[in-house]
Amino acid sequence: MTSIPGLIELRGVTRAFTANGQSLEVLRGVDLLVDRGDFVAITGSSGAGKSTMLNILGLLDRPTSGEYLFDGRPTAALGDRERSGVRGAGVGFVFQSFHLLSARTVRENVLLAFVYGETEERPRSTSERLALAEDALSRVGLARRSAAHPGTLSGGERQRVAIARAICTRPRLLLADEPTGNLDRRNSDAVLDLVEELNADGLTVVVITHDEAVARRAHRHRVLEGGRLS
Ligand SMILES: Nc1ncnc2c1ncn2[C@@H]1O[C@H](COP(=O)(O)OP(=O)(O)OP(=O)(O)O)[C@@H](O)[C@H]1O
Ligand SMILES: [Mg+2]
Repeated sequence: MTSIPGLIELRGVTRAFTANGQSLEVLRGVDLLVDRGDFVAITGSSGAGKSTMLNILGLLDRPTSGEYLFDGRPTAALGDRERSGVRGAGVGFVFQSFHLLSARTVRENVLLAFVYGETEERPRSTSERLALAEDALSRVGLARRSAAHPGTLSGGERQRVAIARAICTRPRLLLADEPTGNLDRRNSDAVLDLVEELNADGLTVVVITHDEAVARRAHRHRVLEGGRLS
């Protein structure tokens, strides 16, 4: 598949935190270009700044200095509302610990994506949301479990629900932070198969991982070290 350059780009991004009166420079000039349709794995030791970088890519945090371009558009000048708009329409998130609400059904958990994305320019009707949620659940092979509660699902199935929630708004970018970190090999392979299929359908994927098997499946593998990507 050919990809048109530059869905996201980091240029000389730094991020420093102040803790106990001391400044900690976690990112020290990160450059990253991710093409449309790309599948990039980021590894690095614990504390290297991987989640910090992912938060910036997901517009959940801002760089201390440097530039972040989303779809060719500099994000620094965007206000919080515009950033939520870009995030809601363009980015899906998957985390290690699923973040599903146990008192809600699988379908309701997936529908939560639309609550987080409520700043979108054209709000979707309830029936449209339901149809997108059912579509996403079919996509991850869990349509038959829509009425179940997350507690009755396996870890791999729960992560597939989280993926359905991440993709039901039809984002262009999937950001995953250790998506297989809580899964055994078999469930982890199933989740990876799914991510690979979504990528083959055009979804751009950035995944943070400690798992070599995940890194091997990506098109590109970068290592975060000393605050920079190598
Ligand atoms: N909001 C914050 N305030 C202060 N320090 C922070 C903050 N967020 C992260 N840090 C620090 O930045 C460093 C990098 O954290 P980060 O969570 O990005 O690491 P990571 O590479 O994702 O590690 P892990 O593999 O363990 O998840 C750590 O030393 C962490 O304590
Ligand atoms: Mg992390």
